[in-house]
This record gives sequence, C-alpha cells and structure tokens, in this order.
Amino acid sequence: MKRSLLAWLRCPICLATLEPDSAKQEIIEGRLTCANAHRFPVRRGVPRFVQSDAYTQSFSYEWQRFRRTQLDSATGRTDTRDRLQASLNFPIQQLNGMLVLDAGCGMGRFAEVVHACGGTYIGMDFSYAIDAAFQNAGHLPNVHFVQADLFHTPFGDNMFDLVMSLGVLHHTPDPRRAFASLPRVLKPGGKLTVTVYDAGNKVYVANSRFWRRYTTRLPSRLLHVLSYAAAPLYYLWTLPIVGGLLRSVAFLSLERDWRWRVLDTFDWYSPQYMSWHTHPEVFSWFKENHFEQIDLLAPSISQIGTKPSGVQI
Ligand SMILES: C[S@@+](CC[C@H](N)C(=O)[O-])C[C@H]1O[C@@H](n2cnc3c(N)ncnc32)[C@H](O)[C@@H]1O
Repeated sequence: MKRSLLAWLRCPICLATLEPDSAKQEIIEGRLTCANAHRFPVRRGVPRFVQSDAYTQSFSYEWQRFRRTQLDSATGRTDTRDRLQASLNFPIQQLNGMLVLDAGCGMGRFAEVVHACGGTYIGMDFSYAIDAAFQNAGHLPNVHFVQADLFHTPFGDNMFDLVMSLGVLHHTPDPRRAFASLPRVLKPGGKLTVTVYDAGNKVYVANSRFWRRYTTRLPSRLLHVLSYAAAPLYYLWTLPIVGGLLRSVAFLSLERDWRWRVLDTFDWYSPQYMSWHTHPEVFSWFKENHFEQIDLLAPSISQIGTKPSGVQI
C-alpha cells in the first residue's frame, strides 16, 4: 500500500481519516487505525476492510486463475482499453489528471489503461481478486488497490472525478442499493459509469437461470474443468440453425479466443448472484440519485451520468 493512498482512504465505519502503524512509503504488512479506534489490517500490500470474500468467493478463484487473460499488456491487444472507452462519453485521453475509482475491479485490468492515460486509479474489490490485481498493477505509480465492499466504501465524500463499476452491480444481492452507495464518493460534476447484464433476451435469461441453479453449487475446480471441456463446443454453438437452437438451450461464451471462452463460461455459471436489467431500470437508478446528462452506451446495458453541482447526495 502506497502511503499516498491515505489522502483518500477513510474508515468505512465512521469516515474518520486512517493512520498507519508504520512510517514507510510502501506498507506491505501493517495496520490502519482511525480516531475512533477502528482497526484494519494491511496484508500482502493491500488494506483490507472486509474479513472474508463472502458471496464473492467464485471471483477470488476466477481472477487468481485468469489473472492475465484480459490484460492488454499480456495479450498485446487493446480489448480492455476499448472496453473502457466504450463506457465513457468523452475521449479516454481526458482521464489525464483524473482520480478514478474502479468499484469491483476484479484483477485490475483497467488500472494500466487509466495509468497510461495519466489518471490516478484506485481499484476496490470484495474478493481476493484484489491480490491478483495488486500483482498485475500494484507496482505502477498512482495505482492503488483496496479490498472492500462497495456497500461500505472506505473513501470520503466528494472525492472522485470518475467512478466506474463495470459488470459488478448485477453480482451483488441488491444492485439498486449497490448503485446508490456510489454517488457519495463522487465529486459534484464527476461521472459515474456502470454496465450490467441485459434482460432483453428472455430465452437466454431463462436458460441461464435454470442451469445456474445447479452450476453455482459445483466446486469451483470442477466448474473450471467443465468450462475448459466446453470451449470446443463453440464450433457447434456458432453453426447456422443448429447453433441458434443450442444457444436457446444453454449459454456458451462465443469469444473467438479460447482462453477468453473458458473465462467467460466460468464467469457466467459460477457467481452466487447474477441479475439482468433494462435501460429504463438503470436510467431510474441515475434519476433517483439526482444525476444529470445521462447517456445510454452500447456495451450490454451501460450508462454514464454526471453528479450535479450543489446537490448533496
Ligand atoms: C465480473 S467481475 C468484473 C471485474 C471488472 N470490473 C472487469 O470488468 O474486469 C465482478 C467483480 O465484482 C466484485 N464484486 C461483487 N460484489 C462486490 C461488492 N459488494 N464490493 C466490491 N466488489 C464486488 C467481484 O468480486 C468481482 O471481482
């Protein structure tokens, strides 16, 4: 943990500032304490505000096993940079100088992109994916990671220029309430961008609900093996007519890179919580929280809005 992170970090219980038990610039093992004596450990270089990974266990497994699959610096492609650009309504270069919170950062694939654009990045995740994220990007200047629950965000009011939560809210027990916990940390005039799964295809949603009743009970290791075994089925699932029928029976990732297919299939069938949403529903979350300039974006159900100045959220 870089000492500079303390400027933004607050006790998630009382929002007081936190003091470390060490004078080092980089704290690997230690403790943070607030004025009201709430204590939080720093372990393996990451401050920890949760005691376990609770309902996000499958993500602890997933992102430790697929730590580099979607990392642009490992693939030599720009999928992750393109994904982030698609979630913004301004050119990605404007991240320069911004303070960005990635709420539900997984293995931290967006850290290197924000860093390359000149922004300061803080990745937060409930699961032990945070250790994979720290390994991937913890060494970069102006990149920080915390293990925390977005329902109890360990940051002060009005701090971030951009809060992004891509593919996260639909994996929480209450996506609407999860959304509502984010505006507090955003500066007036700051932007919130979210992506959730699309409820549009009813057949798809119904068969996913059906199969997930069984797959979410399987041990992660077994589901991982099954996801590998399913990767060649891509060729059947993409056939004309037959493929259409198969796709209406069960979801299978249709990513062209087989490693992404294994990851995506595991990611679909393992998480404890998964929900599907519509544009009007997500738009209503922005409106309830007094956002302005709400834009609908292309990937799945994605929207970005601006927190108005002069409104206390
Ligand atoms: C599908 S992954 C997406 C990761 C990343 N946003 C990306 O696009 O690569 C969802 C992540 O949300 C995290 N998550 C779920 N509930 C959370 C919560 N309450 N607080 C913080 N993170 C959470 C999971 O641990 C998981 O790593």
